[in-house]
Amino acid sequence: MNAPANRVGTVKHYLDLADFDAATLKALIADARRRKDARKGWPHGVADTDKPLEGRVLAMIFDKHSTRTRISFDIAMRQLGGTTIMLTGSEMQLAREETIADTARVLSRYVDAVMIRLLDHEMVLDLAANATIPVINGLTKLSHPTQVLADVMTFEEHKGPIQGRKIAWCGDSNNVCASWVHAAVRLGFSLRVASPPELSVRPVLREWVKANGGDVEFGEDPEKAVAEAECVVSDAWVSMGDEDSTKRHNLLKAYQVNGRLMSRAAKDAIFMHCLPAHRGEEVTDDVIDGPQSVVFDEAENRLHAQKAILKWCLQSS
Ligand code: CP
Ligand code: NVA
Repeated sequence: MNAPANRVGTVKHYLDLADFDAATLKALIADARRRKDARKGWPHGVADTDKPLEGRVLAMIFDKHSTRTRISFDIAMRQLGGTTIMLTGSEMQLAREETIADTARVLSRYVDAVMIRLLDHEMVLDLAANATIPVINGLTKLSHPTQVLADVMTFEEHKGPIQGRKIAWCGDSNNVCASWVHAAVRLGFSLRVASPPELSVRPVLREWVKANGGDVEFGEDPEKAVAEAECVVSDAWVSMGDEDSTKRHNLLKAYQVNGRLMSRAAKDAIFMHCLPAHRGEEVTDDVIDGPQSVVFDEAENRLHAQKAILKWCLQSS
């Protein structure tokens, strides 16, 4: 396994699942579960009174739209005792050519951590390289690691430990798919990715899988991918920043997750989607609203997973 790249001196960044070893990912999921359980007693019991991030401030920078990531980080921080500042790239001097490195240096003097959604992955790495506070990747064009931590947590709630299990991805090999690939390798589960060749994963990710071992196969046939899978995952055909919408719709039609495709997966397979969903495109109503769908558990678990991530970044260990 490569050395984790998530610590720079004493600063802990959450940039990609690939940077983590299995033990740390499992500990994060266990902590998220503890926070979820603690919340169940609230406000009637004594649970969830623990405020480990009291006095800490998270800056959130959104250069793109968000509902779940934005709200779940905000609420997570408040429930842990901290506060947030919400910023958009367009209202910061970033939009007037201040460098991301200088932005990192300045933010490091004011706040305790930064969560950023910016399509340019290299810029997020640059932010982290120049910050002396933790940086959390809230989605780039290349990955969405906070999402997939919550997804693994959700799978395990419904199906038990993910190690050795089989998951299928159908559709565009996008940022969420890349984080699933990282998770599969690090946590030791099988991943079958079905995408049209034009929208297949980047060669560098294939190389990473080869170098790190892991049971991940990249193919084109959705029926083959879902065979025996205990979880079928899908996502938007057109992600933020994609401009070739018509072409993508044409290429991805055959990858729609519908009742027929779900019937080819394992009996009682679950359906997952990070949301927002485009009903009638990557998934049909009967699947996303049906008994196999766990998409709103997934959305809820973002909140609990964000807490684990924030605590990991902000507490020394
Ligand atoms: N899944 C997800 O990240 O949703 P938002 O874009 O609404 O944050
Ligand atoms: N792949 C989608 C995920 C949205 C949460 C996008 O990047 O737009």
